[in-house]
Amino acid sequence: MTQTLTIRRPDDWHLHLRDGEVLKAVLPETARHFGRGIIMPNLVPPVVTHEDAQAYHGRIMEALPEGMSFDPLMVLYLTEDTEPEDVARAHASGLVKAVKLYPAGATTNSASGVQDFTKVAAIFEKMAEIGLPLCVHGEVTDNEVDIFDREAVFIDRVLDPIRRAHPELRVVMEHITTKNGVDYARSGGDNLGATITTHHLIINRNHILVGGIKPHYYCLPVAKREEHRLALREAATSGDATFFVGTDSAPHTDPNKESACGCAGCFTATNTMSCLAEVFEEENALDKLEGFASLNGPAFYGLPANEATITLTKGDPVSYPAKIDTTDGPITVFDPGFPLHWSVEV
Ligand code: NCD
Ligand code: ZN
Repeated sequence: MTQTLTIRRPDDWHLHLRDGEVLKAVLPETARHFGRGIIMPNLVPPVVTHEDAQAYHGRIMEALPEGMSFDPLMVLYLTEDTEPEDVARAHASGLVKAVKLYPAGATTNSASGVQDFTKVAAIFEKMAEIGLPLCVHGEVTDNEVDIFDREAVFIDRVLDPIRRAHPELRVVMEHITTKNGVDYARSGGDNLGATITTHHLIINRNHILVGGIKPHYYCLPVAKREEHRLALREAATSGDATFFVGTDSAPHTDPNKESACGCAGCFTATNTMSCLAEVFEEENALDKLEGFASLNGPAFYGLPANEATITLTKGDPVSYPAKIDTTDGPITVFDPGFPLHWSVEV
């Protein structure tokens, strides 16, 4: 008997769409299965103001192919010069659904991020007042801290103090990669949520480093030990509404990945739903997939779940392209390392 699963159309609560020709190439990969996406603002230059977000939203809608529907939920990139009134206006307009905190230097295009967290206290106060969530890239940038410890140290040194100072602020811990992140998110009450990527449910640090370096598995935060991957799997498939999918699909062209100083990011937009179905099936938790992919995220953001549905069907392995072509060069699609048996129909 064919096994099928129909769920509300999913949303992606952490997505990099880039700009220009790459935007045109990657947007359909997400819009094919996903209804909405929280659009990361780390362009060069970043999306800082309400006006920047309006313009970027326009470019995304222009890049959307005829006949596809997708609702980009815009995000402002927090800088030490961000103005509370601009944030409030952007939120009131309905266009902007979150503000993103990058510690300066933590990841791709984060040079304009925050160095001194006390300088953005007024923004956090305004956001708490108007109920606008803060999306947090949770890694310290201190050179003294080992890259595998940067998430855990960030929670103690930065995140917990911010949340104590602003208990009403709604915070999303983005792309958590550790058991420490899972435990902290669980203990945080209704104002704290956490996204988990597809690839962090599938790879650990051995996948990046054993048997030769695999640049397409390198992303930030970097994948950790197996015990952490297992903690993420347990959290994602537990049914706990704290956790929802944010793919962090982050396209870079092959020459930029396969380099002596390769860019961080896994491009997972194309096959994410098939990968997630495989993971949830393996954990005997297919009944929890809809919560993780389609219900918990909208609930955290105070939005309705999508009306439309998608149907996943189990059968012979589905094939996805190994790469997508762009005029800037090919972009490699995430290889989960196992066959994908779940096809997706919209
Ligand atoms: C992201 C990118 O390429 O923009 N890279 C990544 O490894 N996830 C930035 C980010 O979200 O950290
Ligand atoms: Zn990201």
